[in-house]
Amino acid sequence: MDDLKTKYLGLINAASDEQALEDIRLQAVGKKGEVALAMRELGKMTPEERQTQGPLLNALKDEINSALAAKKAALGDAALNERLAAEWLDVSLPSRGRRMGTIHPVSQVTEEVSAIFADMGFAVAEGPQIEDDWHNFDALNIPPHHPARQEHDTFYMHRDEGDNRPPHVLRTHTSPVQIRAMMAQGAPIRVIAPGRVYRSDYDQTHTPMFHQIEGLAIDKDISMANLKWVLEEFFTAFFGTKVKTRFRASHFPFTEPSAEVDVQCSFEGGTVKVGEGNDWLEVLGSGMVHPKVLKYAGVDPSAWQGFAFGMGIDRIAMLKYGIPDLRAFFDSDLRWLRHYGFAALDVPTMRGGVSR
Ligand code: PHE
Repeated sequence: MDDLKTKYLGLINAASDEQALEDIRLQAVGKKGEVALAMRELGKMTPEERQTQGPLLNALKDEINSALAAKKAALGDAALNERLAAEWLDVSLPSRGRRMGTIHPVSQVTEEVSAIFADMGFAVAEGPQIEDDWHNFDALNIPPHHPARQEHDTFYMHRDEGDNRPPHVLRTHTSPVQIRAMMAQGAPIRVIAPGRVYRSDYDQTHTPMFHQIEGLAIDKDISMANLKWVLEEFFTAFFGTKVKTRFRASHFPFTEPSAEVDVQCSFEGGTVKVGEGNDWLEVLGSGMVHPKVLKYAGVDPSAWQGFAFGMGIDRIAMLKYGIPDLRAFFDSDLRWLRHYGFAALDVPTMRGGVSR
C-alpha cells in the first residue's frame, strides 16, 4: 500500500496537464485501477485482516482522490496566471493617433452663407427633397407644358401602373421652399433655404445633384434696389473683398423682373480665381416675386411685394476656394477631401463683416 501511495502521489505531482491527471486517475482509482484490484484481494483475507486492510485501502483511495483534486486546481490556477500575465494591458499608455475627418467645402460654405444672411435678419426655412410637382412647378407659375418644365431636366419618382396621383419629383431648385415658407408664415417674411437639388445634367460645372440656397424677402416696400444691395453686401462678406458682379436681365416664370448674377473670375493655371480675369461665372438667379406666386402661397399681392434669389452653393464654393471642377465635389475621393476639407472646429469665415 505504501508503494502504491508513493507511486501515485509522485505521478500526480509531476502531471503537467488535465489529460495526464485523468490518465493517472483511471490507472489508480478507476474501476479497473490498481486500488480496485487491491480491494478485490480483501475477499481472500481473514475477517480480522479485512478489518484492518479495508479502512487502510479506503483511506488510500481518498488520499489519491484529494491529491488529484488539489493538482487539478493548481493546474487551473497556473493557466489563469499565465493568461493574466500574457494579456496584461497598460491602460495608462497614450492612445494611437487617429486621422480626423474633414468638413466638406459644401457644408463649410453653407454654414458661412447662412451666418452672413443671419446677420442680415434672414431665418432658415426647409422643405423636402422629394417634392410634389405643385410646389416645384405650378405654384411657381410654371404650368404643365410650360417649356421651363422641360428645361429643368427633372427626375420623376416612379409611379406604379394605375397610380394616377400627380407626380412627385426630386426638387429641381430650392424655390418650392419659398411657397412652403410663405404658406406657413405669411408676410412679412425674410428667409433663406439651403439644400440639395437635382437635375439630369453632367459636365465641369454641372452635376445631377447640387446645392442651392434660396433667399426670400417680402414686405411692404421691398424693391430690386434692396435685392442688389443685399447680394453685393453678401458677396463682399463672403469673399472678404469687393468682387465685380454683373446683373444680367433674364427670365424666370416666378419673378418679374428677373436678373441673373455673374461673378468675375479667371479659370487659369488649373484653378479658378475670383475678382480677376476675363471670365464670368453665373452664381444665381433672382428677381421680384411674381404676383401670381404670392397669390398661390396665400400672400396678398396688392399689399406685399419682395425679392427672391436662388444661388448655387457649389458654384460659390468653387470660386472662394479655387476648386476648378465641380464633379470632384461628389467623387468622395479621400485625397481631395483631405486637401479641400476643413478642420471640424473652423468657424465660418466672414472677413468682410456685414454692415446693417
Ligand atoms: N430657381 C431658379 C433656378 O434654380 C433660381 C431663382 C430663384 C430665380 C429665385 C429667381 C428667383 O434657376
